[in-house]
Amino acid sequence: MSFDNLLLEKRDGVAIVTVNRPDKLNALNRRTREELDAVFTALGADAEVRGVILTGSGEKAFVAGADIGELAAQSPVEGKEFSLRGQRTLDKIEGLGKPVIAAVNGFALGGGCELAMACHLRIASDNARLGTPEVKLGIMCGYAGTQRLSRLVGKGRALEILLTGEMVDAQEACRIGLVNRVVAKDKLLAEAEGLLRKMLANGPISLRFTLEAVNAGLEMPFAQAQYVEATLFGLICTTEDMKEGTRAFLEKRPAKFQGK
Ligand code: COA
Repeated sequence: MSFDNLLLEKRDGVAIVTVNRPDKLNALNRRTREELDAVFTALGADAEVRGVILTGSGEKAFVAGADIGELAAQSPVEGKEFSLRGQRTLDKIEGLGKPVIAAVNGFALGGGCELAMACHLRIASDNARLGTPEVKLGIMCGYAGTQRLSRLVGKGRALEILLTGEMVDAQEACRIGLVNRVVAKDKLLAEAEGLLRKMLANGPISLRFTLEAVNAGLEMPFAQAQYVEATLFGLICTTEDMKEGTRAFLEKRPAKFQGK
């Protein structure tokens, strides 16, 4: 696959997707959003790819938001479509069924912060700054930022960020749970890959079903979410990986998971 505004690298089961418009701080114009949608569709279907790292090109930004030039020219109907399309792309990332880590290498603002929040984990470089400055432009989050931020950091902290439009630095983002950890800029990708590979050493179906139980379960009443978990647990007991994982433990050897 070739893209105008993305770079895609694959190595040993890991795909690294880099948003590549550094002169515009990787702002998500329509083309870039469409390419993100296409690449995640392809990565979801690619059996060779077991996990994904998403990052931004250049020294300054992960993604500095939706493209303000494009936003400024939108009618109400186009604005609603813009929002729905972006939400669907981010849902696709969250629902990929394989772990996705955002390596936040600088500004993650507006749609960029929303994009990072749709990933399963976020690791930030120490120069990263995150926020939702849409209110400063007379608009608001449209890629589910009001929802994912509240779920990640709680309503009070989310509203402070959403209503002030002020950025938080990497340390503060880590303190409030917006990012999982902060590392030196030059270690960011290695750290993200190390963490991802730790996950990928586990059973792929275990990862898939765990992501599904957490994502779906958080939107359900507790009892219903527990039932979903129990059903997935029952299903996982039918897999080869379950037999291999438990047998390997009893035989005191590392498991060889096949994802079957
Ligand atoms: N949309 C379109 N272009 C953007 C952009 C965005 N969201 N964010 C940055 N850019 C462009 C700038 O217009 C500039 O382009 P130019 O060189 O052609 O003028 C280029 O990226 C570099 O940005 P610049 O503002 O010069 O960098 P800076 O270091 O002074 O400031 C930011 C960095 C992130 C503080 C600033 O770019 C900013 O506030 N961006 C908008 C963030 C935002 O509101 N995002 C939410 C959008 S819904």
